[in-house]
Amino acid sequence: MNIEIAQQGIFEEASRHGRFLEYKIKPSAIDKELKAVLKNLIKYVSNIEDLNLNIAFGSACWDRLNPSWCPSELVDFSPLESGDLDMPATQGDIFIWLHSADAELIPVALLEIYHGMNPIADIQIDLEGIKNKQSRDLIGFVDGTANAKEDKRLPIALIPEGKLGAGGSYVITQRWQHDLEAFNNLAIGDQEKVVGRTKEEDIELEGDAMPEDSHVSRTDAEVDGVGMKIYRRSAPYMASQLTATSHGRNKKSDNGLYFLAFACEIQRFTVQLERMLGLTEDGISDKLMQYSKPKTGCYWFMPSRIDLTNLLE
Ligand code: HEM
Repeated sequence: MNIEIAQQGIFEEASRHGRFLEYKIKPSAIDKELKAVLKNLIKYVSNIEDLNLNIAFGSACWDRLNPSWCPSELVDFSPLESGDLDMPATQGDIFIWLHSADAELIPVALLEIYHGMNPIADIQIDLEGIKNKQSRDLIGFVDGTANAKEDKRLPIALIPEGKLGAGGSYVITQRWQHDLEAFNNLAIGDQEKVVGRTKEEDIELEGDAMPEDSHVSRTDAEVDGVGMKIYRRSAPYMASQLTATSHGRNKKSDNGLYFLAFACEIQRFTVQLERMLGLTEDGISDKLMQYSKPKTGCYWFMPSRIDLTNLLE
């Protein structure tokens, strides 16, 4: 499978400045209008070098715009729960990922997206995600190290030839909110046990040093001898809300990770999420969930470049 089959920019790792938008279509919106808006946005961005626009659809939206076929595993995200841990579902209709290596290219294109989308869809998430050069997240660990490299990413991230939606991807998005105060209060050695890698050098813990409830232990999973590998393109986000109080204004910070990953099968996500929650025979949950909580959750289908073009014709 050739990289050109996928929508442009999915594998462009130098593209570190991003905007993540999740929309719910307004009941009054007309399919023709929606398709025209997306087509115009693609055309607009295609004239700007080094700017990427990726579009994905929730299951109901895909069925509505393309009733003739649907990738076999596409479903809405369902809420998951285990003890005091949970993963909420906030399934949307359209996911837009605008990203570039050049931060300057984002704002004007973003205005174009708002202008096109606002009349037909309600925005559920609008987050800026920025990765630093080392790809460290806000907990200070390098994120993305275990991702496959170069062409090895393609069979992990893209639906294989011969299946409906070939060259497209199943996609998961979740906004994870960190409790940075609690995490930063841990000694570095304890933080490393939560993640399963060393902080500074980014080396995987080995043997007895690797706890079975570390994040890496829970997400490095196999089913029937097949590694449940996914391709992650998450980014840290920082948002804060100013609320008026009787004493003036209060700032409530909301910092975390916008988790974004691609896979050839949706099962790869569900296996990892269930292992993180301890919904498995061993009942072990991911220690990271003590310090970070998912606040949203969606599954999407990101069609291949040609399937997206055909959809919008
Ligand atoms: C607060 C949310 C999260 C944070 C801060 C986080 C951070 C990290 C870090 C620092 C690593 C180690 C370095 C690396 O290989 O990338 C890692 C690994 C990984 N994470 Fe996460 N992650 C989060 C959520 C998730 C979720 C929700 C999933 C799955 C649905 C996931 C799947 C993985 C996988 C597959 C690996 C690689 C494991 C391996 O094979 O070594 N992560 N994550």
